[in-house]
Amino acid sequence: SDAVHAAGGSFMHREIHEQPQSTERALRGRLDERFGTAHLGGLNMDPRETRAIRRVKILGCGSAYYVGQMGASLVEELARIPADAEAASEFRYRNPIIEPDTLYVAVSQSGETIDTLLAVQEIRRKGGRVIGLVNVVGSAIARECDGGIYLHAGPEVAVASTKALTNMFVGFALLALQLGRVRDLSIADGKRLIAGLNRLPGQIAEILEQEEELAAAAARLAEADSLFFIGRVRGFPVAREGAQKFKEISYRHAEAYQTSELKHGPLALIDEALPTVAVVPSDELTDRNVGALHEIAARRGPLVVVTHEDVDLGELDAVRIAVPRNERELDPILLTVPLQLLAYHAALHLGLDIDKPRNLAKSVTVE
Ligand code: G6P
Repeated sequence: SDAVHAAGGSFMHREIHEQPQSTERALRGRLDERFGTAHLGGLNMDPRETRAIRRVKILGCGSAYYVGQMGASLVEELARIPADAEAASEFRYRNPIIEPDTLYVAVSQSGETIDTLLAVQEIRRKGGRVIGLVNVVGSAIARECDGGIYLHAGPEVAVASTKALTNMFVGFALLALQLGRVRDLSIADGKRLIAGLNRLPGQIAEILEQEEELAAAAARLAEADSLFFIGRVRGFPVAREGAQKFKEISYRHAEAYQTSELKHGPLALIDEALPTVAVVPSDELTDRNVGALHEIAARRGPLVVVTHEDVDLGELDAVRIAVPRNERELDPILLTVPLQLLAYHAALHLGLDIDKPRNLAKSVTVE
């Protein structure tokens, strides 16, 4: 279509479409099929040190922070180690408690974001161990860390991060797999996840084939002044990242909410002028999620639902975007890809500067 063709000129569009190849690069040489685990030489940790970790704390800014939340879920689900993510820009200002048995993880595409770098320095000054999930080799954050996982996304130019972000998720899956396999994650579960990781590049390619439908949905969303992005548990950081991308490049107000919290406030705003983009994977929460969508539809709120093929939406009046299913732990990244294209095509429809949105820099290197 014209929309898809016109999109070809921007870096963001190119970077979105590079993801099948860039995720493959993130995986290459890092999967140990026989033991169902990841091989991450750059962590500089032996199995005993890996086992001694009692907590994981993830730090990043912007999209890196939201992927960090996805990463925390992966660590908790696969390794059963308490994990959470925090905005690196806030961390050092609250005199954080640095624990010797916590693994700190700094996430950054550029490796130069000053807030993340200063968080790393604060941790190391207090004797903490920090690893980096960084794209740019030899960058300041990569050099400051005790070890790390390079993202191998290749150069990313567009301010709105896409392929680097996807590889951050892959990096977290590899880390969680390794942390899990020195604990209670079984070899069978390890192999199940490895098979899932190997399916990601092809499944991302399948999602990218739905670009025309996504462009049409985006053009309608771009007409609204304000939007909600909703999701629950694994789907919530996906919604946060989706809202972030949308507001960064389309300049529309986009707010992420937990689907479960809708009835505790934001439902008051729903009407025909306020569309909702809902993340509804096929999981243990599907029925509850679909129930919330009917609440929105009853108030004539327009709906775009990013979901799986087998999810039954009933008679719901909604634009439906289905992504392929993977292992439930890995689904969040596949649900994120259509949201990149929604943001992208909204900005394209509005005629905005996609690669260089106003007021933003690719990496913020001054405080
Ligand atoms: C800036 C960009 C964001 C990005 C964040 C973190 O604020 O506008 O898009 O997510 O920095 O960048 P980093 O290079 O550390 O991943």
